[in-house]
Amino acid sequence: MDGVAVGVCGTDKEIVAGDYGWAPPGEDRLILGHESLGRVREAPQGSGFAAGDLVVGVVRRPDPEPCGACAHGEFDMCRNGRYTERGIKERHGYASQAWTVESEYAVRLDPGLESVGMLLEPTTVVAKAWEQVERVGGRAWFEPRRALVTGAGPLGLLARCWRAARPGRPRTRPGEPGAEAGPGRGARRDVPQRGHRRGDLALRPDVVIEATGAGSLVFASMAGTATYGVVCLTGVSPAGRKLSVDAGSINRDLVLENDVVVGSVNANLRHYHQGAEALAKADRAWLERMITRRVPLERAAEAFTPRDDDIKVAITLT
Ligand code: BGC
Repeated sequence: MDGVAVGVCGTDKEIVAGDYGWAPPGEDRLILGHESLGRVREAPQGSGFAAGDLVVGVVRRPDPEPCGACAHGEFDMCRNGRYTERGIKERHGYASQAWTVESEYAVRLDPGLESVGMLLEPTTVVAKAWEQVERVGGRAWFEPRRALVTGAGPLGLLARCWRAARPGRPRTRPGEPGAEAGPGRGARRDVPQRGHRRGDLALRPDVVIEATGAGSLVFASMAGTATYGVVCLTGVSPAGRKLSVDAGSINRDLVLENDVVVGSVNANLRHYHQGAEALAKADRAWLERMITRRVPLERAAEAFTPRDDDIKVAITLT
């Protein structure tokens, strides 16, 4: 594969800071890059891929045992924690000018997605999160009318876009975060990054996709849903932040309302295929606006210094 680009996310920054991530066994370095995009240089016969195809490599691989979930292709739900992840956990990533991937872990993208295809990986995370909400909600009658997405980073923006593109979506009010047409310079200003408008939770959403990982928002979401609410947590937070909460009333709320709080990480092949289909249909200009900086490989370090108007920063590899 000729590397085209990789996206940079909070996990990459944590790895660079030495707070997360594992080099492959026996090595002391990890090649970064889990939000991949490449172009096939050479593909084995019968693999279904041909030179020139635009491709994304899947992040996770099943644990070697494998556990029951991994054995069923649900490596995103691995039970024993021995899964590996390219660019994150014990496998080199895709931030190289040339890389290889097993054909069963390669996903073809619409050829028109060359400038934005590195958004597939975060899109798969969102696809899985919404699937979790639908499955959890589906345990009884469920017709969610209102959803709140917290966070104005790529996950939050893609989570709104994902839902807006699906039929039977919960309603968004005009002017509500996420009701805007898409990300642009103004998008971050519309949605507070730290904290949220109290009013958003006063609306008592049926669904919350929490994409900040900020403790106060996590607990406010749990306490603020409508009856039979589903809160899906997708933000990975650093450990060690203490917060004082009224555990009694949160528990009471969850019990008396049949509420659910579900965590969601990573994605399996089904979500990659759903994501690839969704990106192919999405408004290309909207996606382009989400990539606020493109940094060439020689200056890759710059991608890790945040700037105020960053949404998604990509490192270009060509
Ligand atoms: C990635 C996931 C991964 C998780 C934990 C996230 O940034 O998008 O694919 O499972 O980090 O390592």
